[in-house]
This record gives sequence, structure tokens and C-alpha cells, in this order.
Amino acid sequence: VPELDPALVRDWQAGGGELIDLFAQARARLGGVAAFRLGPHPTVLVTAPEAVQHVLALRPDLYVKRSHRARLLIGDGLLAATGDAWQRQRRVLQSQFTGRGMRRYEQRISEAARTAAARWAAYARDGQVLDVGEEMRRFALDTIWRSLTGHPLDPGTERELAAVPAVVAALPSLPADGVAAQGAVAAELARIDALSGRAIAAARTAGAGPHGPGLLHVLLEAADTSPEYTDRLIRDELVTLLVAGHETTATTLTWLHLLLDRYPQARERALAAGAEGSPERHRAVQALVHETLRFYPSAWILPRHAAGDDVLAGYAIEAGTDVLVCPYLTHRDPGTWEDPGRFDPDRFLTPGRRPTRPGSYAPFGLGPRACLGLQFALRESTVLLEHLLPAHVPHFHSVPAKAAYGLTVRPDGPTPATLGAVATI
Ligand code: HEM
Repeated sequence: VPELDPALVRDWQAGGGELIDLFAQARARLGGVAAFRLGPHPTVLVTAPEAVQHVLALRPDLYVKRSHRARLLIGDGLLAATGDAWQRQRRVLQSQFTGRGMRRYEQRISEAARTAAARWAAYARDGQVLDVGEEMRRFALDTIWRSLTGHPLDPGTERELAAVPAVVAALPSLPADGVAAQGAVAAELARIDALSGRAIAAARTAGAGPHGPGLLHVLLEAADTSPEYTDRLIRDELVTLLVAGHETTATTLTWLHLLLDRYPQARERALAAGAEGSPERHRAVQALVHETLRFYPSAWILPRHAAGDDVLAGYAIEAGTDVLVCPYLTHRDPGTWEDPGRFDPDRFLTPGRRPTRPGSYAPFGLGPRACLGLQFALRESTVLLEHLLPAHVPHFHSVPAKAAYGLTVRPDGPTPATLGAVATI
């Protein structure tokens, strides 16, 4: 694999640059499969669509997850599990996230969206300043909490759950191998364990909420027949669903509002596509979500480890190589997408306007480890936006100057706004 000149890596390090700058340089100079060296071993960056498809969808047996740091928080949950355990765990949850299973969660998603819309109506009435990012986080957390437990998120639980993003934020700076949490992180983890314990006990004794059993009840049922589902594993799945299911959706919705601020015509077009509640409106709003995910795929890097030797796009990959798939750069490559710097939701509406090469669009990953919550995420985003977009336009007081490239790519700073009325066309 062609490797980036070490002098360039040193310059980048000296300049205190973001990882994305290093990746973009490797991609621009060396192409869609490129290596760079931060330590003794090279890391291979994969952005060419065929290679993305190969790693994620065609050879998932060879390119495996390791998730050392994440395990501290999510333990053996689905996101980190491998082998037979992963297969078993995926089967248990899969039925809830496709077709008929998803219907069980429609009500909860709608209720969370109505609750958020009512909050926005109150902010608008009072001329109050809100933080759009915070609001989107609250909505996503409420949605997943209702889906897990059957109950809306109460203020006490919301406060306790702040421990989850606190641990997520601390993860990248922890040592990668054999980690034991210490200090503040250990205290946050203890809070998360206590909260999970209470939620599991409540689901066991009080049973389901008004809309029938939630995801937590499905996990408890699995424990009846499958001894692997210990209380520890149920805790791990609960935390996994909280982590995987809220930050990604929340940042996507936040980016979407920031993008609409820059491209107001996109909002007008979506609202003009059809009447409220019509399939045309629904499709147009979903296209906004897809184009946002092309611009800012919140899971911007998908790390893998080569478990054996392979040939990737004509290059030899040795067993033990770290591989980073980066959909973010694939989505912005002019060789793959036409005019990629332009926010243009119509690509996802008009047939033939977007690339069909496998691997060219992968905000939810690809292959067997692709996002379990894809339909759920699209549904909750679209339902919320169908409430908010026709009613309010956020006027941002300031917008973050750049993105922060951590575990997810998110706006680097607060997003204060007041809400204005939508001009009717
Ligand atoms: C996995 C993205 C929302 C649950 C993934 C992966 C991506 C992703 C890229 C694959 C990671 C990899 O291959 O390394 C997103 C985005 C979302 C979103 C962009 C929102 C816009 C959700 C929601 C849930 C969820 C709402 C749950 C309710 C999961 C789980 C996995 C996963 C459990 C692990 C699946 C497995 O390994 O079998 N997600 N996700 N995600 N996601 Fe999502």
C-alpha cells in the first residue's frame, strides 16, 4: 500500500492538525487505499468505494472489530461483540428493528417527537433562547429511553444519563489495552451501572409501559431461554443501545439544522414537495436526512483489524494491520459524487442522480455489521422534522466555526438560537 511521506506526517503532528486533515492528505496524494504511520505500524485508510465494500461487506470475516476502549463502557454489547456471541445477540434484537417489529416503536417515536415539538412551541412563544444541539440530544435520548423501558425520560434519569456522554468523551484518551477505569471515569461508570440496574429491576417487576414491552423486556425474555443473557449482558446491551442510538441521531439532526441555515432553499423545497403528512413530504424530508448523512456521516471512521493476509484493491494487506474505513471522505470525493461540496438533497430524490457503485454511500456502515438501528434512526429523524420544519426556523446566534472529529463528527461548540416563524410561500 502506498505510504504517506513520514515528513508530511511530522509536519502534520507539529502543526497540531486534526486527524481528518491527515486522512484527507493521504487520500489526495495516494488514492482510495493509502497508508500512514503514526507509531511503528502503518494504518491503512480506505476510502475507494470498491475497497469500502470489500472490507465491510465482502470480507467481514477478515476485517474484524476490536473495540478495546469502547468495551469499558459497553462491555460485551452488540456493537463490540464478535463471533457466535455477536450472531446470537444480533438475532435477538434484529426482529425489533425491521418490518413488523419496528411498528411496536412507532407510537413511542411519535410521542417523543410531539413532546419535543411542544417544547419548541413554548420556546417560540416566549422568545426563549435554546441550544439546538442540546434539544436534539434530549429528543434522541427520550426516544431511545421510551423504546427501551416503555416510559418517557424523567428529569432525574436525564441527569443521571449525562454520565454516558461523559464516559464517551473520555474514551479516546484512555490507554487502549487492558484498561481499568480510574478516578472520574470510574465514578461515572458506577452511576451508569446503578441506573441500568434500576431500569432492569423496574422492567422486571413493574412490566411494560402503556405501549407494551420495550427493548429491555425483549432482552429479559431472551434471558428466560438463553443462559448467556446474564444481568451483566443485559446491562451491556442497554448501554450499547443508549450509546449507539442517541449521539449519532442527535448530531445528524443538529447538522441538518445548521445546513438548512446555510441552504434555506433546501428547507423551502422540502416543504413545497407536498402537503403535511403526504408521502411526497415524507420522501423530501427523508432526502434532507440522507444528504446530511452524506455531508456528515456521524460515524465518520469505522475501525477494523485484519485478522489474516488479504489483497485489497490490488495491494497486499498483512495480518495484524489496522484498517480505517472513512465514509466521510468517500462521501466528499469528486470522483465518486458530483459536486460533493454542494448540499443537494435532490440527489436522493431523483433517480440516477447519485452513484450506485456499492460502497459509495455508507453512513450506516455496510454488510453484516451495518447499523441495527438504520430504520429506527430514519424514522425518528423524519417524524421529528415533519413536526418542526413547517413550524419553526431557528435563527442561530452563533454557529460553531468547525467540526470536532472524535468518535463521531459533531459541531465543535454550542448552537444557541431563537425560533422564528416559517414564511409561507
Ligand atoms: C452500528 C451509524 C443510529 C444501533 C452502526 C454502524 C454505523 C452506525 C456506521 C456500524 C459501525 C461499524 O461498522 O463499525 C448510525 C447512524 C445513526 C445510527 C449514522 C443515526 C443517524 C442508531 C440507532 C440505533 C443504533 C438509533 C439503535 C436504536 C446500532 C447498533 C450497532 C450499530 C446496535 C451495532 C450493530 C452490530 O455490530 O451488529 N451504526 N447509527 N444506531 N448501530 Fe447505528
